[in-house]
Amino acid sequence: MSSDGLSLQYQGILLPRETHSLECLEFAQEFKFREDDIMAAVYPKSGTIWMQEILPLLLNGGDLTPIQTIPNWDRVPWLEEKRLAVIVDTLTAPRAMVTHFPFRLMPPSFHASKAKVIYVMRNPKDILVSSFYFHQMAEFLDDPGTFDEFIEKFLDGNVMFGKWTDHVKGWRSAELGDRILFITYEEMCQDLPAALRQMSDFLGRNPSEGTIQKIAQHCTFKTMKTNRMSNFSLVPKEYMNSEKSPFLRKGVPGDWKKHFSSEQLARFNSAICKELQSESFTLPYKLD
Ligand code: A3P
Repeated sequence: MSSDGLSLQYQGILLPRETHSLECLEFAQEFKFREDDIMAAVYPKSGTIWMQEILPLLLNGGDLTPIQTIPNWDRVPWLEEKRLAVIVDTLTAPRAMVTHFPFRLMPPSFHASKAKVIYVMRNPKDILVSSFYFHQMAEFLDDPGTFDEFIEKFLDGNVMFGKWTDHVKGWRSAELGDRILFITYEEMCQDLPAALRQMSDFLGRNPSEGTIQKIAQHCTFKTMKTNRMSNFSLVPKEYMNSEKSPFLRKGVPGDWKKHFSSEQLARFNSAICKELQSESFTLPYKLD
């Protein structure tokens, strides 16, 4: 591992130094997964904090206490972040966590366990736009440069957690059988109750329709934006400055259309297609 300014280089990917260290990455590698643990695996800016809201509610039958009293980073912690070691003993079974790790960095005990994973995918062009604004508001991340420059960084994997294509390819080809559910951010935006039903079936839960509706209502973009435990307003402005751009920024598919020129679009699509060309899976996205 080497460090440079705001980032750490770890196993071929960049990580923000503010939230990651050699010690916590070792802690993640030695972490002992339990059979009933639940993970959401999410490339950054694809719906991580959304899953930090959804999972506790699905697992506890819609009790709002955790989402109203515990900050998202302690409620459903990141496997790879410093905070996990501090709060791990406060997690109650079944423990829910999130990870931005590519599949190849998942620790040995994950492979040996039956822990279930929900992998959330998002259109990479919207990820890029979301990340561009996030880099402006998060003082612990590098300045993104111009949009054009940021496109190049994103395509080169010179961004947090490396290339999006590597992340998707790794998790899509992970042979986890019925331990993994793939879902898209766009499906969740289109019909959240349907996405919640799919997730609860996968997790072996059987909430009533009323509970599903209640959870959906508390997990809308609008409600989460006002939840102090989820909108990062507890984080000092020196770290995350929501006056520059709020964390919960737009919350819609397709915002990329307002940002990409036709040249940038052609460049982006051809680079992404090339990376995915040799793979046997198809993406749930039209890249045009
Ligand atoms: P935008 O910047 O496009 O608005 P992550 O949590 O992985 O960092 O992802 C952040 C993105 O997810 C942001 O996208 C944020 O607004 C969006 N998001 C979070 N909660 C959401 C919700 N309930 N509905 C829709 N989008 C949500």
